[in-house]
Amino acid sequence: MMSHTEIRRRFIEFFVNRGHLEIPSSSLVPEYDPTLLLTNSGMAPLKPYFLGQANPPARRLVNVQRCVRTRDIESVGDIHHLTFFEMLGNWSIGDPQSPNGIGSSGYFKKEAIQFAWDLLEEFEIDRKRIWVGVFGGDPRWPAISPDEESAKAWADLGLPRERILRLPTADSFWFSGPVGPCGPNTDILYDLGAEFACERLDCGPTCDCGRFLEIWNAGVFMMYNREGENEFKTLPAKSVDAGAGLERFALVLQKAGNIYETDIFKDLVSAINDLAEVGQSRADQRSVRIIADHIRAATFLSSDGVSPSNTQRGYVLRRLLRRAVLHGLLLNISGYFTNLLSEKVIDQFGEVYPNLQTNRNEILQSLENEEKVFGATLKKGLQEFNKMSQRDGNIVDGVFSGEAAFRLYDSLGFPLELTKELAGKKNLTVDEVGFEKLLEGQKKQSRESRVEEGFDPSKTKTAHTAAHLLNAALKKVLGDSVHQMGQKISEKKFTHDFNFPRKMTSEEILATEELVNQKIDENLPVSVEETTYEKALNIGAEALFTEKYSWVDKVTLYSIGNFSKELCGGPHVQSTGELKRFKIIKEEAVSSGIRRIKATVEN
Ligand code: SER
Repeated sequence: MMSHTEIRRRFIEFFVNRGHLEIPSSSLVPEYDPTLLLTNSGMAPLKPYFLGQANPPARRLVNVQRCVRTRDIESVGDIHHLTFFEMLGNWSIGDPQSPNGIGSSGYFKKEAIQFAWDLLEEFEIDRKRIWVGVFGGDPRWPAISPDEESAKAWADLGLPRERILRLPTADSFWFSGPVGPCGPNTDILYDLGAEFACERLDCGPTCDCGRFLEIWNAGVFMMYNREGENEFKTLPAKSVDAGAGLERFALVLQKAGNIYETDIFKDLVSAINDLAEVGQSRADQRSVRIIADHIRAATFLSSDGVSPSNTQRGYVLRRLLRRAVLHGLLLNISGYFTNLLSEKVIDQFGEVYPNLQTNRNEILQSLENEEKVFGATLKKGLQEFNKMSQRDGNIVDGVFSGEAAFRLYDSLGFPLELTKELAGKKNLTVDEVGFEKLLEGQKKQSRESRVEEGFDPSKTKTAHTAAHLLNAALKKVLGDSVHQMGQKISEKKFTHDFNFPRKMTSEEILATEELVNQKIDENLPVSVEETTYEKALNIGAEALFTEKYSWVDKVTLYSIGNFSKELCGGPHVQSTGELKRFKIIKEEAVSSGIRRIKATVEN
């Protein structure tokens, strides 16, 4: 059986022997890419090379990159989805003909496909179980032809034609983001066997049930830079970006039933089983897997300096941890457990990723703090949920009522997502529409009563906009890890709470004040748009973690020039010139690690 350590080593060796230079894994926190929340693939840190903006150290590169993808979070718990994973990547940057080319020879489709084919053989992966996909063309983009070249390369190697699939764009064209380098790709699918099939009559290689497991994106053939929905520019050079999931390779090579049975997860899963009361039900198994995945992801995020917070990466970490804690509670784990499990992760991966070892204490401390804070809310919510589910009327035809869900939210601050998890455990769904209606109603009522009380929100517009400027200015002066933690706004005054470990110096206060006043003088436009939570976080918008945490919700994003982007309900002035003078009156402690600024603004 090939261990995960051996897979990493042999993959690297294979490509080094074919002229590739091994490069280290980058941090999960993208260093130079403001468009990206977290490093989500091996190519992410290499984007400047593909765009011709920087010269790579060699034309052929190989590495193992730690990655986090949040878009799959709801699927975690099945046989192969993860939020944290390691990507085995190989690249050719710039084709041989390109004036940009560096070093000896680059390669393109034919060679990339040959490499993948040869490595499958070296790893003794049964080629009879292999299917591949190629780009089948897209009517929206007539200038980009179907990828017959890749299809031919596979056929020339002896892969039967019926196992070469022409796939739609979603499965055969890879985009590094809404804009950025992209191109047609060819995926390798591995047939796990009929016992993994779903019940659909047409279950086959294009079914997403998991039987046909995507093990290797054997090459994104980077030829274009996407600059808009249907706008593609040809890149200065052709490149290959190939990536395989280490965990999926392990599943296949170790003949495991799912990734949690591989040696990557075995110890962690058995530690969870020791701590918890785990039954045979699917729901219990899913909880174990969610805990394993999320604690592993949280440990790696912490090791790269992310701490739980209400915004951006900190929010991703917080969400993962809170979900793990919830599932711990569902499995009756008593006492704090996140750092016991995190230690296992550190011990297991510390050799490959030494920063896990170096930051061991900080990681464990950070996880424990979050678990303590969240644990209390959770216990109360769970008790209440259980009581409610026994009361008549709260459950009708397998649906937990929106009203009950709203009560949990309203009185205990228990997010809808968690109620859904709890309900799911009991095979119930939640009336989300009913919940949303009540939430809307509550918002409307509070708006109306504020107007009745003679509180005119438009009067707070100035202070509201000044608060956004202050938030952005603090990040410039004190660093990016500073985020808003709370706010109170009245007509010309406001208080703004933020995380910072010490008192600000008078120079810092002055610099912040001056920066805000400078932005007022620049008369920057204030613009507003609707977007989704995840998109907003991805472009680096500030957000306050409060009521909801769904990734699909529509949110309102306010931008002030290029200086500030923040999610907020408004209202705001139209341009910063409507503000006159901003002044910081006081800077003081609220609690450990939280500071408060009291400020005024004239209009
Ligand atoms: N970047 C591509 C992917 O993530 C190939 O590695 O699939």
